[in-house]
Amino acid sequence: MNARVILVVISCVLSVVTGLVLSHRAEGEAHAGGVNKKPLIGLSLDTLKEARWQSDRDMIVKHVKELGADILDTAANSDDSVQIGDVEKLITNKIDVLIIVPHDGKAMAKAVSMAHDAGIPVIAYDRIVRDSDLDLYVSFDNTKIGVLQGQYLVDHLPTPGKGKIIRIYGAKTDDNARMLKEGQDQVLAPYIARGDIKVVHEDWADDWKPEVAKRIVNAAITEHGGDFDAILASNDGTAGGAIQALTEEGFAGKKMVTGQDAELVACQRIIAGTQAMTIYKPPTVEAVNAAELAVKLALHKPVIAGQSVNNGKVEVPSALSEPIVVTPANMEQTVVKDGFHTHDEVYRGAAASAQKSP
Ligand code: GAL
Repeated sequence: MNARVILVVISCVLSVVTGLVLSHRAEGEAHAGGVNKKPLIGLSLDTLKEARWQSDRDMIVKHVKELGADILDTAANSDDSVQIGDVEKLITNKIDVLIIVPHDGKAMAKAVSMAHDAGIPVIAYDRIVRDSDLDLYVSFDNTKIGVLQGQYLVDHLPTPGKGKIIRIYGAKTDDNARMLKEGQDQVLAPYIARGDIKVVHEDWADDWKPEVAKRIVNAAITEHGGDFDAILASNDGTAGGAIQALTEEGFAGKKMVTGQDAELVACQRIIAGTQAMTIYKPPTVEAVNAAELAVKLALHKPVIAGQSVNNGKVEVPSALSEPIVVTPANMEQTVVKDGFHTHDEVYRGAAASAQKSP
C-alpha cells in the first residue's frame, strides 16, 4: 500500500548533534517497508548539460544502489513541463522518495505537492524549491559560495580592492543564482559604495547558458573595449562563455575570471591561466548525503539535518556542506586528491588548451 508519510520536524533537544530530527509516521504499510521490496528512489534532474550534473547523477545512482535501494532517474532538458511530466512518471512508478533538482525553483512547488499527494517525501538537491512544504534540502551554502567568489575577486584585482568589473549572474529561475549574487553583494557593497570598484556591465544568463554569458561579455566589450579588470562569473559554464569572448578579443589570461563547479575544462583553464579560480563542491559529499538521506527516509529511519533554509513558506531542514576555493595552488590537494579529476586530465588538458589559445 502506498503509505502516506508524514514528516515531523522535532527539535533535537536530546541529541548530541545540534540540529533537526526528521522522523515520520506511516499509516499502514510503507512501500519500502514491504517484505520483498527494495526502497525505490526517484531522481528528477533539470538538465545533464553541465558536466557537474552528470557526475552528481552518477554518484547518487551508485550510492543509492550501494545502500541496497533502486533508483529511477530523469532529466528535463531545462523544461518545466517536461520536469512535471517526469515527476508524474516517477510517482506512477511508485517511488518512495523524490530527489529533485528544479529547473525553475518556483514552478516545481507543484512537483512537491504532487509527490505529497501520493505520500512521497521530497528532497531538493542543490537548488531549493521555493514556496512549498519541501521536506529536506541538500546543498552547499550558496551565499557563502558568492562570498568566496566576491572575496577572491576583490583580493586578486591588479590593484587589490580597486577596479572595474563585469558581473554575470546565473539563471533567474534558480534560487542559487540569487543567493550567489547576495553573497557576492555582501563583499562588494562597501567597495562599490566607496567608488573603489565599479560594475561596468552586469546581466543574468538565462538557464546558465555559456552562449548567453559570451553575449554579455561581447556587449560589455563593445561598450567599454578592454577597460575592465575582471569578470565575476557565477559558475564555470558562464566563465567558459566569458573566456571565449575574451579570447576572440585577445584578452584571455589578461582579465581575471571566477567560476564555480570545478568542471574539468575549468580546472584546465585555471592551470592554463585563462580562469583564476573555481569553487569545488565535492559530489562525494553532496551526492552521498542525498543518497543516504533519501534511503533513510524511504526506510522510515530518523534523519538529522543540521541547518535550515527558509524557502518563502517554511524553514526547510537542510544539510549544507562547505564549498572549497580552488586555484593552481591547491588543485592537487583538492580535486586531484579526491579523484574528481586525474592529474593527467587536468594538466595535459591544460597544456593542450594553452596551445590552442591565440
Ligand atoms: C546551480 C548550481 C551550480 C551550477 C548551476 C548551473 O544551481 O549550484 O553548481 O551548476 O546551477 O547548472
